[in-house]
Amino acid sequence: MVGMRIADVQEDTDHELISKEEISDIINRAAAQASEDYRGKNPLLVCVLKGAVNTLAAFSQAMSIPVQMDFMSLSSYGSGTESSGKITVRQDLSTDVRGRHVLIVEDIIDSGITLAWLVDELKRRGAASVEIFALLEKPARRKVNVDVKYKGREIPDEFVVGFGLDYDEYYRNLDSIAVLKPSVYEGGQA
Ligand code: IMP
Ligand code: MG
Repeated sequence: MVGMRIADVQEDTDHELISKEEISDIINRAAAQASEDYRGKNPLLVCVLKGAVNTLAAFSQAMSIPVQMDFMSLSSYGSGTESSGKITVRQDLSTDVRGRHVLIVEDIIDSGITLAWLVDELKRRGAASVEIFALLEKPARRKVNVDVKYKGREIPDEFVVGFGLDYDEYYRNLDSIAVLKPSVYEGGQA
Protein backbone atom coordinates (compact mmCIF):
# COMPACT_ATOMS: atom_id res chain seq x y z
CA MET A 1 0.00 0.00 0.00
CA VAL A 2 1.21 3.50 -0.80
CA GLY A 3 0.41 6.47 1.45
CA MET A 4 -0.80 6.92 5.01
CA ARG A 5 -4.36 5.74 5.39
CA ILE A 6 -6.65 5.65 8.38
CA ALA A 7 -5.67 1.99 8.93
CA ASP A 8 -2.08 3.10 9.50
CA VAL A 9 -3.02 5.31 12.47
CA GLN A 10 -5.80 3.17 13.93
CA GLU A 11 -4.26 3.14 17.41
CA ASP A 12 -4.16 6.93 17.74
CA THR A 13 -7.45 7.88 16.13
CA ASP A 14 -10.97 7.41 17.39
CA HIS A 15 -12.68 7.39 13.99
CA GLU A 16 -12.39 8.79 10.51
CA LEU A 17 -14.49 11.95 10.28
CA ILE A 18 -14.08 13.00 6.64
CA SER A 19 -13.01 10.66 3.87
CA LYS A 20 -10.54 11.50 1.15
CA GLU A 21 -13.40 11.59 -1.37
CA GLU A 22 -15.46 13.99 0.72
CA ILE A 23 -12.47 16.28 1.16
CA SER A 24 -12.11 16.42 -2.64
CA ASP A 25 -15.79 17.17 -3.08
CA ILE A 26 -15.71 20.04 -0.60
CA ILE A 27 -12.59 21.56 -2.16
CA ASN A 28 -13.76 21.13 -5.77
CA ARG A 29 -17.08 22.81 -5.04
CA ALA A 30 -15.42 25.82 -3.38
CA ALA A 31 -12.78 26.08 -6.11
CA ALA A 32 -15.42 26.07 -8.85
CA GLN A 33 -17.26 28.92 -7.15
CA ALA A 34 -14.06 30.89 -6.54
CA SER A 35 -13.00 30.40 -10.19
CA GLU A 36 -16.21 32.06 -11.29
CA ASP A 37 -15.99 34.89 -8.76
CA TYR A 38 -12.33 35.72 -9.44
CA ARG A 39 -12.34 35.43 -13.24
CA GLY A 40 -10.13 38.22 -14.65
CA LYS A 41 -8.95 39.26 -11.17
CA ASN A 42 -5.64 37.41 -10.87
CA PRO A 43 -6.24 36.39 -7.24
CA LEU A 44 -3.45 35.75 -4.78
CA LEU A 45 -4.05 32.58 -2.79
CA VAL A 46 -2.52 32.95 0.65
CA CYS A 47 -1.80 29.70 2.42
CA VAL A 48 -1.44 29.69 6.17
CA LEU A 49 1.42 27.28 6.93
CA LYS A 50 1.66 24.55 7.67
CA GLY A 51 -1.78 23.07 8.12
CA ALA A 52 -3.29 24.53 4.96
CA VAL A 53 -0.64 23.18 2.58
CA ASN A 54 -2.63 20.13 1.50
CA THR A 55 -5.78 22.22 1.14
CA LEU A 56 -3.96 24.85 -0.94
CA ALA A 57 -2.47 22.21 -3.25
CA ALA A 58 -5.85 20.59 -3.91
CA PHE A 59 -7.74 23.90 -4.06
CA SER A 60 -5.35 25.59 -6.48
CA GLN A 61 -5.33 22.59 -8.80
CA ALA A 62 -9.13 22.58 -8.79
CA MET A 63 -9.23 26.23 -9.88
CA SER A 64 -9.76 26.87 -13.57
CA ILE A 65 -8.34 30.42 -13.74
CA PRO A 66 -4.78 31.76 -13.37
CA VAL A 67 -3.83 32.30 -9.74
CA GLN A 68 -0.71 33.17 -7.78
CA MET A 69 0.17 31.69 -4.42
CA ASP A 70 2.09 32.80 -1.38
CA PHE A 71 2.71 31.43 2.07
CA MET A 72 2.69 32.77 5.58
CA SER A 73 3.47 31.04 8.82
CA LEU A 74 1.59 32.22 11.89
CA SER A 75 1.66 30.80 15.33
CA SER A 76 -1.08 30.83 17.92
CA TYR A 77 -0.64 27.29 19.21
CA GLY A 78 2.17 25.68 21.13
CA SER A 79 2.31 21.94 21.01
CA GLY A 80 -1.08 21.78 22.76
CA THR A 81 -4.62 21.80 21.40
CA GLU A 82 -5.82 25.26 22.53
CA SER A 83 -5.15 28.59 20.83
CA SER A 84 -2.92 30.82 22.93
CA GLY A 85 -4.65 33.87 21.47
CA LYS A 86 -1.40 35.64 20.68
CA ILE A 87 -0.37 35.69 17.01
CA THR A 88 3.23 35.82 15.89
CA VAL A 89 4.45 35.90 12.27
CA ARG A 90 7.04 33.17 11.85
CA GLN A 91 7.43 33.61 8.12
CA ASP A 92 5.97 36.46 6.08
CA LEU A 93 4.62 36.67 2.52
CA SER A 94 7.08 37.56 -0.23
CA THR A 95 4.33 39.27 -2.25
CA ASP A 96 3.22 42.89 -1.94
CA VAL A 97 -0.53 42.56 -1.44
CA ARG A 98 -1.33 46.21 -2.26
CA GLY A 99 -4.23 46.32 -4.71
CA ARG A 100 -4.44 42.50 -4.84
CA HIS A 101 -7.52 40.34 -4.49
CA VAL A 102 -6.45 37.98 -1.74
CA LEU A 103 -8.10 34.65 -1.04
CA ILE A 104 -6.88 33.09 2.19
CA VAL A 105 -6.87 29.30 2.08
CA GLU A 106 -7.15 27.84 5.56
CA ASP A 107 -7.41 24.34 6.97
CA ILE A 108 -9.61 24.96 9.99
CA ILE A 109 -11.17 27.83 11.90
CA ASP A 110 -11.33 27.17 15.59
CA SER A 111 -11.47 30.30 17.79
CA GLY A 112 -11.13 32.45 14.66
CA ILE A 113 -8.39 34.49 16.34
CA THR A 114 -5.71 33.64 13.76
CA LEU A 115 -7.85 34.49 10.74
CA ALA A 116 -9.44 37.61 12.19
CA TRP A 117 -5.91 38.88 12.78
CA LEU A 118 -4.76 37.94 9.28
CA VAL A 119 -7.74 39.53 7.50
CA ASP A 120 -7.09 42.80 9.35
CA GLU A 121 -3.39 42.63 8.63
CA LEU A 122 -3.83 42.06 4.86
CA LYS A 123 -6.34 44.92 4.66
CA ARG A 124 -3.93 47.11 6.59
CA ARG A 125 -1.30 46.29 3.96
CA GLY A 126 -3.66 47.55 1.26
CA ALA A 127 -5.21 44.44 -0.30
CA ALA A 128 -8.11 45.32 -2.64
CA SER A 129 -10.18 42.52 -1.14
CA VAL A 130 -9.68 39.71 1.36
CA GLU A 131 -11.85 36.59 1.42
CA ILE A 132 -11.53 33.19 3.05
CA PHE A 133 -11.89 29.56 2.06
CA ALA A 134 -11.83 27.31 5.13
CA LEU A 135 -11.97 23.57 4.68
CA LEU A 136 -13.28 23.06 8.23
CA GLU A 137 -14.95 25.13 10.91
CA LYS A 138 -15.65 24.37 14.56
CA PRO A 139 -18.58 26.75 15.24
CA ALA A 140 -18.84 25.73 18.91
CA ARG A 141 -15.42 27.20 19.61
CA ARG A 142 -15.66 30.49 17.74
CA LYS A 143 -14.52 33.41 19.88
CA VAL A 144 -14.27 36.17 17.29
CA ASN A 145 -16.34 36.72 14.20
CA VAL A 146 -14.81 36.09 10.76
CA ASP A 147 -16.71 36.16 7.49
CA VAL A 148 -16.02 32.99 5.53
CA LYS A 149 -17.10 33.42 1.91
CA TYR A 150 -16.21 29.90 0.78
CA LYS A 151 -17.32 27.42 3.38
CA GLY A 152 -16.14 23.86 3.67
CA ARG A 153 -17.63 21.69 6.36
CA GLU A 154 -18.59 22.29 9.96
CA ILE A 155 -17.31 19.77 12.48
CA PRO A 156 -17.98 19.14 16.16
CA ASP A 157 -15.70 20.34 18.94
CA GLU A 158 -13.15 17.56 18.66
CA PHE A 159 -9.44 17.68 17.86
CA VAL A 160 -8.85 16.40 14.34
CA VAL A 161 -5.74 15.46 12.38
CA GLY A 162 -4.90 14.60 8.80
CA PHE A 163 -4.86 16.29 5.40
CA GLY A 164 -2.35 18.84 6.70
CA LEU A 165 -3.70 19.09 10.23
CA ASP A 166 -1.28 17.99 12.90
CA TYR A 167 -0.88 17.14 16.50
CA ASP A 168 2.68 17.97 17.55
CA GLU A 169 3.66 18.02 13.84
CA TYR A 170 2.50 14.45 13.20
CA TYR A 171 -0.39 13.05 11.14
CA ARG A 172 -0.18 15.78 8.48
CA ASN A 173 0.33 13.17 5.76
CA LEU A 174 -2.79 11.18 6.59
CA ASP A 175 -4.95 11.34 3.45
CA SER A 176 -8.29 11.75 5.29
CA ILE A 177 -9.37 13.61 8.44
CA ALA A 178 -9.77 11.77 11.73
CA VAL A 179 -10.62 12.50 15.35
CA LEU A 180 -7.55 12.07 17.55
CA LYS A 181 -7.94 9.98 20.69
CA PRO A 182 -7.72 12.30 23.71
CA SER A 183 -5.26 9.82 25.26
CA VAL A 184 -2.72 10.92 22.62
CA TYR A 185 -2.65 14.52 23.86
CA GLU A 186 -3.63 14.07 27.50
CA GLY A 187 -0.73 15.12 29.65
CA GLY A 188 0.57 17.36 26.87
CA GLN A 189 0.50 21.13 27.41
CA ALA A 190 -2.83 22.72 26.51
P1 IMP B 1 -7.76 29.64 15.73
O1 IMP B 1 -6.95 30.87 15.77
O2 IMP B 1 -8.18 29.20 17.10
O3 IMP B 1 -8.96 29.71 14.80
O4 IMP B 1 -6.76 28.49 15.27
C1 IMP B 1 -6.71 28.05 13.97
C2 IMP B 1 -5.50 27.15 13.77
O5 IMP B 1 -5.33 26.23 14.85
C3 IMP B 1 -5.74 26.26 12.57
O6 IMP B 1 -5.32 26.88 11.40
C4 IMP B 1 -4.96 25.02 12.91
O7 IMP B 1 -3.62 25.16 12.50
C5 IMP B 1 -5.04 24.93 14.41
N1 IMP B 1 -6.15 24.02 14.83
C6 IMP B 1 -7.37 24.35 15.31
N2 IMP B 1 -8.12 23.27 15.57
C7 IMP B 1 -7.36 22.21 15.21
C8 IMP B 1 -7.62 20.78 15.21
O8 IMP B 1 -8.67 20.24 15.59
N3 IMP B 1 -6.58 20.00 14.76
C9 IMP B 1 -5.39 20.52 14.32
N4 IMP B 1 -5.13 21.84 14.30
C10 IMP B 1 -6.10 22.67 14.75
MG1 MG C 1 -3.88 26.64 10.04
